[in-house]
Amino acid sequence: MEKELKTIREIALKEISQAKSLDELNNLYLKYFGRRKGKLTIILRGIKDLSEKERPKIGKLANEIKQELEQELEKKKREFQEAKIDIIAKKEWIDVTQPGVKPPHGHLHPITQVRREVEKVFSSMGFEIAEGPEVEKEYYNFDALNIPKEHSARELMDTFWLKDGNLLRTHTSPVQVRVMEKRKPPLRIIAPGRCFRYEAIDASHEATFNQVEGLMIGEGVSLANLKAVLISFVKRFFGEETKTRLRPGYFPFVEPGFELDITCTVCGGKGCSVCKGTGWVEIIPCGMVHPNVLKNVKYDPKKVSGFAFGMGLDRVAMMRYGIDDIRLFYGGDLRFLNQF
Ligand code: DAH
Repeated sequence: MEKELKTIREIALKEISQAKSLDELNNLYLKYFGRRKGKLTIILRGIKDLSEKERPKIGKLANEIKQELEQELEKKKREFQEAKIDIIAKKEWIDVTQPGVKPPHGHLHPITQVRREVEKVFSSMGFEIAEGPEVEKEYYNFDALNIPKEHSARELMDTFWLKDGNLLRTHTSPVQVRVMEKRKPPLRIIAPGRCFRYEAIDASHEATFNQVEGLMIGEGVSLANLKAVLISFVKRFFGEETKTRLRPGYFPFVEPGFELDITCTVCGGKGCSVCKGTGWVEIIPCGMVHPNVLKNVKYDPKKVSGFAFGMGLDRVAMMRYGIDDIRLFYGGDLRFLNQF
């Protein structure tokens, strides 16, 4: 019996040391310690049948061997587990001190940037920001603005008419009417937004473009106020050195009407292709709100007066950045957009 135990011990130790995986170790455990067929289990179970003389000696030896084998199995098991962690650590190692990969992120479209700047300047002069619908009623886009039926702007060539009789607004001026209908003077608003015209597209015309409308109404609001506000805007937006001039211009919803020109910001007034050699560019059409428009919104033209303006935001942005083709803003070309 003693000999048999020693042989088991030797073989088992050898097998344990040669095991190549956790699975093999598990099988060895079952081979020696399995509850029914384990080699050592069987011997330990038989100890009670031994003679009184043999029992303590064999019992002691069997228990020692049992402990030794269990320890060896445990040791080997730990070795395997550590090796496994080593492999994972090697395979999945990362250098936490290495700088990360910068996720690409976009920025606001140049027109949006310019719009926000315009809003900031006018807000600082007490103007609120108003909005109106892009799909507009004929009344707001034309009639209420004193644009008679025979006006060229109403022709199919200029306006996108919808089947239901509505249209895509051709300018932001209808927002003037919508605001005045809802509110009492005094008021100061600007209304930035998209406009649409059935245009032949070229370097300075797009079918979709952006305008900013402005309106100031109150008792005694005069041409002096118009000039003060618009010249302040120009100087703050384009720079102190920018000069302005006011020329007569015709728009049905103002009387008198003007064009506010500024010295070309691309050439500084010397003359270039952007200003067509004149040194000046038209930037803000404007005027004193026509009495008929005031009457249309039930204001009394004898009591209140005001001025309005409507500038092309695209044009303003083009002047600001020296861009000579409006189509670049709407082409979605990242080589262009990434420059802003
Ligand atoms: N709505 C005009 C257009 O799109 C621009 C304009 C001119 C707006 C004079 C105004 C104004 O408010 O007073 O051509």
